[in-house]
Amino acid sequence: MKITISVLKADVGSIGGHLKPSQALFEEIKNFVASHGKNKLIDYYISSTGDDVAILCTHTGGVGNREIHQLAWEAFLAGTEVAKKSGLYGAGQDLLKDAFSGNVRGLGPAVAEMEFEERPNEPFIFFAADKTDPGAYNLPFYLAFADPMYCSGLILSPKMSQGFRFRIIDVSYTEKNKIIDLNTPEDLYDLAVLLRDTEKYVIESIYSRSSGAQAVAISTQRLHNIAGKYTGKDDPVAIVRVQGEFPATGEILAPFSIGHYVAGFMRGSHIGPLMPCKLNTTISYFDGPPVVTGAAFSIKEGKLTEPVDVFAHPFWDTVRDEVSRKAMEIRKQGFCGPSMLPFSELEYGGVVEKLNQLEKRFRLVD
Ligand code: 13P
Ligand code: 13P
Ligand code: MG
Ligand code: MG
Repeated sequence: MKITISVLKADVGSIGGHLKPSQALFEEIKNFVASHGKNKLIDYYISSTGDDVAILCTHTGGVGNREIHQLAWEAFLAGTEVAKKSGLYGAGQDLLKDAFSGNVRGLGPAVAEMEFEERPNEPFIFFAADKTDPGAYNLPFYLAFADPMYCSGLILSPKMSQGFRFRIIDVSYTEKNKIIDLNTPEDLYDLAVLLRDTEKYVIESIYSRSSGAQAVAISTQRLHNIAGKYTGKDDPVAIVRVQGEFPATGEILAPFSIGHYVAGFMRGSHIGPLMPCKLNTTISYFDGPPVVTGAAFSIKEGKLTEPVDVFAHPFWDTVRDEVSRKAMEIRKQGFCGPSMLPFSELEYGGVVEKLNQLEKRFRLVD
């Protein structure tokens, strides 16, 4: 049976700054999806990570389906109304356009979706990250799908030994989708050359080379590309199918133990370590640190089991301690050098105005 999993995610308002949506906002979106999605969806799961609300749903309508996107758009609008009424911060933050035009891509919300032939048993993980951007997944998914140091299946499983095809998108190009496909293991170094630049080149999807089946879909929307200015970070979601011809669940999770440095800490302008957190985690220190949550599911004919919280295990407490230390370490450096994002990212904020003013005060002397 062909199934589509769609995740549509937006920040439409939160309590106490950019911390967490209110229960009332969350319930509004949930009730909206429950009542209006009745004849459209097989199943759904609503969750929040930091100040973002994600609608994960299963259906048979395919990728980019107008009805599904409209349902999510209207659910986010309903949530925005609640946010406005209760004075939440950033009400409607990610809804950048006034009118729905058939697809939420380009309107602000993040989207990750894939359609596939459901296997007899079909496990997958849904990741949601806050206070970061889509490039945050470059390193963990490179390691999980292309590096036998992290993914033992690449040498142990005959189904995986042919490697994977990575589709990379140049998110700085806004006219069209500018993509390149690279195959591992033979294109490994070329892949590394692109993935090192997490603000420009982002993994959009990954495919098994033995079966051709899609393993990964990541939201690659860039809000400042749509708005032309800083309006909040892009807080990416991802769907990752696991086991069989794909890495095992634990192989996908392993690289998140690094707590690697990503973009998006405080005002979307700083570098901070990515902390793997429990589901429904809020935001704190320096509007961060950047967080990622993971919910593992199995599905049968599109029906979801209950989620397993992949970062709830005691193992991750030690990782979180280490990530906290890394966060404090880079924060000691304040605005200086690599703790802040490069100019190309900051140019959407107030830094440009400031530099333009200062430029006039520079003097040329011998
Ligand atoms: P498969 O059964 O999908 O090959 O995975 C084995 C496994 O999960 C060991 O970690
Ligand atoms: P969000 O993108 O999650 O709304 O965060 C914005 C911000 O600037 C936090 O400091
Ligand atoms: Mg926000
Ligand atoms: Mg957010």
